[in-house]
Amino acid sequence: MSILDTINHIGEEITIEGWIDTKRDHGKISFIDLRDRTAKVQVVLVPASLDEASQSLIVEIRPEWVIRIRGLVKARPERLINTDLATGTVEIEALSIEVLNTAITPVFPLDQDKNEISEELRLQYRYLDLRRSSMYKNLANRHKVTQFIRNFLDKEGFLEIETPILTKSTPEGARDFVVPSRHQPGSFYALPQSPQQYKQLLMASGIEKYFQIARCFRDEDTRKDRQPEFTQLDLEISFVEAEDVIALNEKLLIDLVTQLYPEKKIQTIPFPRISYAEAMEKYGNDRPDIREDKEDTNILAFCWIIDFPQFEKTEQGNWTFSHNPFSAPKPEYREQLLEKKDIGNIISTQYDIVLNGFEIGGGSIRNHNPEALRIVLEILGYKGEIVDQAFGHMLTALASGTPPHGGIAWGLDRLLTVLQNESSIREVIAFPKTGDGRDPMMQSPNPIQIDQLLELGLGLQKK
Ligand code: AMO
Repeated sequence: MSILDTINHIGEEITIEGWIDTKRDHGKISFIDLRDRTAKVQVVLVPASLDEASQSLIVEIRPEWVIRIRGLVKARPERLINTDLATGTVEIEALSIEVLNTAITPVFPLDQDKNEISEELRLQYRYLDLRRSSMYKNLANRHKVTQFIRNFLDKEGFLEIETPILTKSTPEGARDFVVPSRHQPGSFYALPQSPQQYKQLLMASGIEKYFQIARCFRDEDTRKDRQPEFTQLDLEISFVEAEDVIALNEKLLIDLVTQLYPEKKIQTIPFPRISYAEAMEKYGNDRPDIREDKEDTNILAFCWIIDFPQFEKTEQGNWTFSHNPFSAPKPEYREQLLEKKDIGNIISTQYDIVLNGFEIGGGSIRNHNPEALRIVLEILGYKGEIVDQAFGHMLTALASGTPPHGGIAWGLDRLLTVLQNESSIREVIAFPKTGDGRDPMMQSPNPIQIDQLLELGLGLQKK
């Protein structure tokens, strides 16, 4: 029986399991709070009520030991009801104690505010850190959000499709993580920065409506809103315009908040649309926090940022893409692109979704015409053979009857951080990395054996 369920069994003998949260000894009588994932309950240990084998355990058992209690559920008298506990109307009079496992003293007290403990320690003993009810809640709500998304998109006719993790280096702006190949020494896979090319290829396959809760990898410096591996809700749809993608995502976000976070209020519906130029002029950045009341933790101020320039100048004076190289220009700029005229003024179909100052997603309508993509690649400075090497498969797919398509990817960790009122995306990820990309619990990354290196045809250079 779950601990929360005990409140429905007053007067009955029950068996519960869990961790000893706290223990208080008052002479002949001891109290423990027993905790499982559903709740905590007060258990009263009186030697006279306990079987003989259990009596000696009263002094032995300690916080974080895992025990099974057989006991009687008793209603608490009115004046002793503890309104702080979900089970505050009852207490359990123990009849027997069974120790399921002992526990060494935790390196940090689990009832201490998580912000007061060094993050290194929290990550090194993440399994202990996750025992906190607040961390459980973050993971449980993350599950509810992904479950909600899956059901919503399933009803809309989407297929959830997994795409490869071992793939090819793609030009998405960040550094790739690479994996050496044993069969082809000297060649490498790259971990995907996003499933961008695969989802477009799925449109070439006639899937029409794709989504994935996708793991993405980018070798970037970690920040409060950035992890080297993170999760996107990635989706792509055929035969759509920007308006269709925006409308679907806006409905999904509104339904999700209304049903899973009813205490939250969306500041403005429909979500305001702000042009890139206006955002830069008014707020000085392209992810403005437009909350009217920034003190209220329950306000969600979504907005769309639109009308991004298609190209930006690099510091070296070359053109680069502002979002990804596959985005199409807005239809009224198509001719301008094909003629490579006034490149800096071409406006892209890109749309970003921003929530309380965080960019929580972005997407676009794609260039489904191979000639238009070739021209974009030329403007970006990719020449002849390189275009075919890096993008040949995309160009051939586009030339093979690919329908018009577009999509978006949400940064799921970022969305959850805001929804859960957390300050860092590390709080909504079960096993995140530190600021410098380490996992202090697994102690990764770590050196590998010389045999492994040899098998992969790799040598290490002394620094
Ligand atoms: P983009 O690169 O904008 O687009 O990524 C989409 C969203 O993913 C989130 N995000 C991150 N979250 C945590 N840690 C990171 N390192 C990180 N990097 C990005 C952001 C961002 O808005 N393939 C395109 C999408 C598309 O065009 O459909 C893409 O990946 O919230």
